[in-house]
Amino acid sequence: MNNRFPEGFLWGAAASGPQLEGAGSKHGKGKTVWDYWFEADPGKFYQQIGPETTSNFYNQYKEDILSMNEIGFNSFRTSISWARLLPDGTTINPEAVTFYREVFSRLRDHGVKSIVNLYHFDMPYRLHLKGGWENRETVEEFTHYAKIAFETFGDLVNTWTTFNEPIVPVEMGYLNDKHLPGVYDLKRAAHAAYFTLLAHVKAISVFRESGHCGEIGIILNLTPSYPRSDFPEDKEAAKWADLLFNRSFLDPVVLGRYPLEMAEFLELEAIDVPYKNTELDLIKDNTIDFLGVNYYQPRRVQAGDKGIGVGLDKYFKPYQWPEAKINPYRGWEIYEKGLYEISLNIRDNYRNIPWYVAENGIGVEGEEAFLDEEGEVQDDYRITFMEDHLRWLQKGMVEGSNCFGYHVWTFIDNWSWLNEYKNRYGLIRLDLKTQTRRKKKSAYWFKQVAVKNRLPEKW
Ligand code: BG6
Repeated sequence: MNNRFPEGFLWGAAASGPQLEGAGSKHGKGKTVWDYWFEADPGKFYQQIGPETTSNFYNQYKEDILSMNEIGFNSFRTSISWARLLPDGTTINPEAVTFYREVFSRLRDHGVKSIVNLYHFDMPYRLHLKGGWENRETVEEFTHYAKIAFETFGDLVNTWTTFNEPIVPVEMGYLNDKHLPGVYDLKRAAHAAYFTLLAHVKAISVFRESGHCGEIGIILNLTPSYPRSDFPEDKEAAKWADLLFNRSFLDPVVLGRYPLEMAEFLELEAIDVPYKNTELDLIKDNTIDFLGVNYYQPRRVQAGDKGIGVGLDKYFKPYQWPEAKINPYRGWEIYEKGLYEISLNIRDNYRNIPWYVAENGIGVEGEEAFLDEEGEVQDDYRITFMEDHLRWLQKGMVEGSNCFGYHVWTFIDNWSWLNEYKNRYGLIRLDLKTQTRRKKKSAYWFKQVAVKNRLPEKW
């Protein structure tokens, strides 16, 4: 491959409606769970910055799309806001249609392929009140929303994804307090996960039945699980972590069935998931065309406290590998080789499905410390991060993994769930006060790689 990527390789970035757009309560948008949560408990949000304005893409998308072009993007992923398109669940908001159609046409006219995602953690508040993903009604509402989105934008978009990281709202909302409802309840978590998967397959089925052109997939955050040691107890812990956090979605979406071990887990926890046999058939018949993989960090685990542990601690416990390289700002381990291991896992166990890196990036706090005299962020750490990951990715591709693109998280610094603008991830710096944008050093590096379609010489 000679440091080259295949012809047509996708280069770009990912973002999401709620983190980038702004206009949170304007132009007819309905309230999401994040809008509600900020109103109810602003102190929970870093520096009390809510989701109203975020990075103002709603008003600045024209200049932003020009910048994408300038930094060599041939593709860009964002999400449609469900609450903006269908504020009450049924009436289509004409302003949302105008906005998204403008964005998708402009991207097309600038040679940037849109990958459009339907759900990025942004549950409409009215559905949250009825139980969100714990309620079967939400599945029907989502299927309707997906149908409307395909019909309304299908002439401009031919690459769709249903969900971004569906396990995250389950983990963070039902085993943690970082998303709502913020409880620790394995049974509720299992129900929410199942109904999310059902919504995903129903959306795929609607897409295919109505004969839309193009492809449809999903974006999963894969966190390879590494055991502390070769002791069977540690290895078993890694198996459970992998089952719950990777395979719980990866197996059904790619292979059309849940792993057998999932039944074992549900039995051990005495959880009854209210599935129907016809739904298992839907899962079998509606596997994805392609997979998006978000990769930030691995998961390191050690044996759980069998018998005495509470919740998932019975199965595995986190383990801090002493040799780990940590991004001190986010506290996440940087383990570039994980991307190679993911690529081989997909090749060997997931029918070598076409996939792409849908998010990979580093969040850094206090980036103003890296401004040079001209006001450009000298983010060499971001360049190193991307380059090292890309080299491992390329190795996986040379060995046969079917990867078709690399998207960095993210394009312009954007708002994040409870961290807001604490950790900056963008290739472009955002001045929060003035909403002005300025390319960082990494943006110029990215352009070189994207336009030449290869990595700099080195190994
Ligand atoms: C991914 C999400 O998990 O990671 C993004 O898809 C998120 O929405 C990104 O912003 C970085 O994580 P964080 O929590 O540091 O913003």
